[in-house]
Amino acid sequence: MMEPKKEIGQLREEVRFHLHRYHVLDDPEIPDIEFDALFDRLVQLEHANPDLVVSDSPTQRVGAEPSAEFDEVVHSAPMLSLDKCVSGDEIQAWQDRCARILGEDVSSYVCEPKIDGVAVNLLYEDGVLVRGATRGNGEIGEDITSNVRTIDQIPLRLLGDDVPRSIEIRGEIYMPLAGFHAYNARAVKNGEKPFVNPRNGAAGSLRQLDPRVTAHRPLSIFCYAMGRCSDDFRPRTHAEVLAAIRKWGCCVNEHVEVVEGFKACITYIERVVQDRVSLGYEIDGVVLKANDFAVQERLGSVTRKPRWAIAFKYPAEEVSTVITAVEFQVGRTGAITPVAKLEPVFVGGVTVSNATLHNMDEVSRLDIRLGDTVIVHRAGDVIPQVVSVVESRRPPGARRVPIPRKCPECGTALEKIADEVVVRCPAGMTCVAQRKEAIQHFASRSAMDIEGLGEKLIDQLVDQNLVKNTADLYRLRGEDLVALDRMGTKSAENLLRSLSESCDTTLAHFIYALGIREVGEATAIALAERFGDLEPLMEATLDLLYEVEDVGPTVAGNVLSFFEDRENREIVSALVAAGVHWPIVEGRVSRPCFGETWVLTGTLQSMSRDEARTRLRNLGAKVTGSVSPNTTRVVAGDDAGAKLARAEVLEIPVLSEKDFLTFLGSHESA
Ligand code: IVH
Repeated sequence: MMEPKKEIGQLREEVRFHLHRYHVLDDPEIPDIEFDALFDRLVQLEHANPDLVVSDSPTQRVGAEPSAEFDEVVHSAPMLSLDKCVSGDEIQAWQDRCARILGEDVSSYVCEPKIDGVAVNLLYEDGVLVRGATRGNGEIGEDITSNVRTIDQIPLRLLGDDVPRSIEIRGEIYMPLAGFHAYNARAVKNGEKPFVNPRNGAAGSLRQLDPRVTAHRPLSIFCYAMGRCSDDFRPRTHAEVLAAIRKWGCCVNEHVEVVEGFKACITYIERVVQDRVSLGYEIDGVVLKANDFAVQERLGSVTRKPRWAIAFKYPAEEVSTVITAVEFQVGRTGAITPVAKLEPVFVGGVTVSNATLHNMDEVSRLDIRLGDTVIVHRAGDVIPQVVSVVESRRPPGARRVPIPRKCPECGTALEKIADEVVVRCPAGMTCVAQRKEAIQHFASRSAMDIEGLGEKLIDQLVDQNLVKNTADLYRLRGEDLVALDRMGTKSAENLLRSLSESCDTTLAHFIYALGIREVGEATAIALAERFGDLEPLMEATLDLLYEVEDVGPTVAGNVLSFFEDRENREIVSALVAAGVHWPIVEGRVSRPCFGETWVLTGTLQSMSRDEARTRLRNLGAKVTGSVSPNTTRVVAGDDAGAKLARAEVLEIPVLSEKDFLTFLGSHESA
């Protein structure tokens, strides 16, 4: 048997290696169950040999007792902040100023997303994490070592044998959006206070005196700089620092790019603005840094802000405004959504005067009163939402929002099913609001794509009783239409033509158009592929429906009860009788990449990852996140890293972006 000391040493190295693969590279090599076995063995050996336990052992993330307060930490090199700018002109002025001081343009820049979290300074002595501190005022911060130790993405010991004797690594601790939403959903369910936004979530979690609380919060880090360092590591550029700390096991953001020339910085800013919503964490802008340390030194700093870097800030996604009223809208499935009417405010780049309050429970939870000042959040193209109330600004005597008991459109008593947050009008298609929404959905581009059939026109058709359900659309005659407001002979003809053209559709579009609760586009495609035609879908049992990818008990139940409803069946028959038709869907089995598993890695220049994934899926392939012996092919874009290396080891065919485009070209048309 191996000596415990030796076995513990080996196990720690192995566990550290796999933790890094899992948490930092996002590319686990062994199944969880095998990792757990290694980890458990280590815990067991340490338990039996308490004198061999050291603080940088991977088992020692959560251990410290709660403290009464945080100690002060004086930063040995101050933690600087950044100058900000918000417009193209300002950023041009920054680059002009740099050029004036240097006597030439900055040639090499590093462009990085500006992570919206909390700055920290991590001190590693002989590779071991000995202290984590907040930025504080830049000179003095707080010692949060016990808390940062609980974050899996922060190595307790740096990897490799070329680690400096002493190095400070700086970065931003943030709360990933998935974790933030999951945490908040749980908090609301348990009657606790949710976080207002991910940044507050990160800050609040790090400020816990009990590290066991922090350990349960979804936190992560991106490292973006070095503070003080011993003289055995002397990088010449910022890019060298990032490459080194990445190699030593720290998370460096994958969208960091070294670019030549100022024009490329602008392209980067524009691209990241667009990618922003799909990142999975919040950023509030982009940071541009001169790459060369000699250049940084020549540019210097003014009042704790370096001249060699600048933050380009995106428009604020969170602002305050006043609620003037709350209206209750009836959705397609009868769900009642409270909508806040706001004093118009500029947020996330547009002026907003409505924001969703999600559901009745949310109105009660936020305890909104008319005239309240509220925080409104809008990110990307997502619907603006009210996140919190500024109670200190509540006007005296402000009235509560009256919660309706009857449908605001048809007067039917509202229903709430136990365990569901949604309040619904149960009147279905007899409720005018639901009828209009159902027809709008049916006509929308992703459904039957009936051009020219907009909201206003649908209002008239329903209000004048010309259309009671979607099948009635196909019974409309020219003379019905020309009698409507703002409808000439020409527009009437056009509408009749687009109605007739819409008959030629696909099964997936048709299924989606029916508006079955919780059957979105992706599910509709999956159902069409599984059943091939409408008849088998209408007759499908629960068991058969379960077999479809992404279909769970709720969706299966919804599909089943939709087709059990006599009225729905009649409408479907009427639509088919009116001429709606589709080709029978051939299963995925006949597609060129059926049965193959692909992995995408690195950055593609010609399309986003999402697009590449969709196009591959359309060819029948499965697209996964990690390379294994089962992988069929790997597409490697720029800066592909660990996954590419693994593909080479496993001798899996790798396609460059050019090969990939050729591949798509020859298979998509076929
Ligand atoms: S560099 C001297 N890089 O932004 C440069 N900061 O407004 C110091 N931040 O306190 C910071 N992402 O908390 C840098 N990629 C990034 C960043 C970043 C977020 C934060 C950091 C800093 C603040 C400055």
